[in-house]
Amino acid sequence: MASGFDVSELWDPAVRRDPHRFYDRVRDAGEPVLQIHPTGERWWVIAGHADVLTGLRHPAIGHEIGRHCPAARLTAPHELSEVARLEARQLINLDPPDHTRLRGLVSGGFTARAVARLEPWISDLADRLVARARREGIIDGIADLADPVPVNVIAELVGVPEADRPRFRAWSAAIVSASVDGPAAVTEFGAYLDELAARRRADPADDLMSQLVAVADRDDRLDRDELVALVQLLLIAGQETTVDLIVNGLRLLLSHPEQWQALRDDPSLAPAVVEETLRYRGPVEIVPPRYAFEDIEIAGGRIPAYDRVGLSLWGANRDPAVFDRPHEFDIHRTDGRQHIAFGHGIHFCLGAHLARLESRIMFDRIARQLPGLRLAVDPAELDDFRLHHTGLPLLV
Ligand code: HEM
Repeated sequence: MASGFDVSELWDPAVRRDPHRFYDRVRDAGEPVLQIHPTGERWWVIAGHADVLTGLRHPAIGHEIGRHCPAARLTAPHELSEVARLEARQLINLDPPDHTRLRGLVSGGFTARAVARLEPWISDLADRLVARARREGIIDGIADLADPVPVNVIAELVGVPEADRPRFRAWSAAIVSASVDGPAAVTEFGAYLDELAARRRADPADDLMSQLVAVADRDDRLDRDELVALVQLLLIAGQETTVDLIVNGLRLLLSHPEQWQALRDDPSLAPAVVEETLRYRGPVEIVPPRYAFEDIEIAGGRIPAYDRVGLSLWGANRDPAVFDRPHEFDIHRTDGRQHIAFGHGIHFCLGAHLARLESRIMFDRIARQLPGLRLAVDPAELDDFRLHHTGLPLLV
């Protein structure tokens, strides 16, 4: 095992404040680094760009450990709570063949073309948020700009009627924040989705719910739990991540005044802001940990069967073998496209086109309509990891 590492460093508050130093050391170690999760699970951390890609493509690394390890207890679905049952059926937690089947049923709704149809609707939402912010002297970049975008977009995509949106927002907030109300929200939200499915069955519309209901009815390829789990996953996977991207992009721009000026001079740089924020400070630090299904040789070392594999996107996206000056935020860089902030392989983010579209529109509108925007606090005081709790105070 690589020397010089304490086995619980990854969760140490000091490392939390600056995980990049840790990932640099993991990369330099030249082999996977063992960390013991607070639950006692053994995680092998991998942080090099090429090695993380290998891990994401590896046929013996995956989620459904119960199908490989005789000792892993498989609880019968009827013994599980609704929350646990739905989670186990989520696309992101499945391997082929179930993963392939479910993903095939929904991927058509998330292609670049399908998502582009939402552009006028998202632009209109962005214009309204920015216009409201202009009337205020001081705003919160999270509550007033970033937070309302993804939840409304997902509601529009799924086909949640205007009148139901406040309830939809409340459930989504409870589920996404994993608050104590989470389990009750999952159950109520599931019941609401059953009701919405029944409405779309009787009266189909041009939305994702109508498509899913048609698929479920046509040849039994999607059952009720899978349908509910999928819509819940869209919320969980798409809300915090997109808010995080918009807010961190804003924070980084406003603390690099020459790059903020460049965007205001030329708003066509908005996609470059999106990509560099994804690379430099993407919303996902480590992909949901996988299992090694057998002993595997990877990243210069060996991971024993049934241990966890922790593939670090933050490590990969700051690998000096791929990115010049990896620890500098630079929207003008030309090597940024190789970042893997949306993952890679069979679980590559389903919402990548959508997240890119939403954040690009927001950066474009903010640069055009709020040119005087600046941080209301010293950037050094902004603790990256607490942004979600403290807000991002901005002067308009
Ligand atoms: C999967 C990142 C936004 C839906 C993933 C994965 C990453 C990711 C890294 C792969 C996880 C893995 O390999 O285990 C992001 C980032 C986002 C974002 C950085 C925003 C900036 C969204 C949005 C949606 C979405 C807006 C949908 C509305 C999904 C789904 C999966 C996924 C359904 C699972 C795909 C599968 O398992 O096949 N995302 N995501 N994401 N994402 Fe996103």
